[in-house]
Amino acid sequence: MSQAHVVDVPDDGGDTLTSLNDNGVLMPNFPDGPGIQGVRSVKIRNDDIMLCTYSKSGTHWLFEITRELLTGEIIEDDVTMSQTFMEFCPEEGYADLQSPRILCSHLLMKHLPEDVLNKKIKVITVLRNPKDVAVSFYNFLKKLPLVRYKGQWKNFLNPLFQGKFMYGSWMDYVIDWEQVKKTNPDLPVLTLFYEDVKQDQTREMRRICEFLGVERTDAFLSRVCDNTTMTAMRTLKNTARQIAVFRKGGVGDWKNWFTVAQNEWFDQLYQEKMTDCHLQFKYTL
Ligand code: A3P
Repeated sequence: MSQAHVVDVPDDGGDTLTSLNDNGVLMPNFPDGPGIQGVRSVKIRNDDIMLCTYSKSGTHWLFEITRELLTGEIIEDDVTMSQTFMEFCPEEGYADLQSPRILCSHLLMKHLPEDVLNKKIKVITVLRNPKDVAVSFYNFLKKLPLVRYKGQWKNFLNPLFQGKFMYGSWMDYVIDWEQVKKTNPDLPVLTLFYEDVKQDQTREMRRICEFLGVERTDAFLSRVCDNTTMTAMRTLKNTARQIAVFRKGGVGDWKNWFTVAQNEWFDQLYQEKMTDCHLQFKYTL
């Protein structure tokens, strides 16, 4: 039986984030969310593609880019990742979509359907430097009505990286995915970095095309770039715009938020927790 219940998780100043505790897993309390069991039981097709990210790592952006590369079409609609966001909407919402589907989640692999591993479907993970993720997450959570968060930045950072808030700590997420790749060498995983896509979107799109096994012309790639700028997506994606997904979309905004003390604290914590992780993150471009 499901043990899901709503909890108010305090930050370091006592302000709370309304969340769902589903058998020990903290996530947003989405009104139609299927819960961990619901996600686990989703039927996976052989040609499904998983887009796995820690929240605020560029999921909406990469969903749109991947969708256009996959279909070979420039799509001007308001569909976003939330259409197939597994912990957000019940399976019925995307069960009838044409293949290949792009399924999205911020959950750890162990909470995804077993067939992701069994069927060895293609997985794209997008990682973003944790300092910009923290700033993006803070701003987003404050605007997300169902979280009811009114806290201050100074009280947010520590509990975020201690893994006390929804989706747990960024570090645990990144380490977990590195482990999944190591223990499942035959699972096709493409790891992208938000900063690399910002730096050279065409180069990264070529990598995605190769991974998906599709060929697209330079002219098409250039059109995808134009259709997935912040401005273009802000205009097209009405629902996401309303919940303030499209904020700044840059690299290095953390410098406007982190105090010297917070930065030193974070760098120390990163060194302690990520010693065995050889991924290199870019904090500026
Ligand atoms: P910021 O809050 O730093 O601006 P997610 O889609 O995983 O929720 O990530 C949201 C972050 O991606 C936000 O970061 C958002 O602005 C950024 N983003 C969304 N669309 C983008 C785009 N077209 N280009 C670059 N960044 C984008």
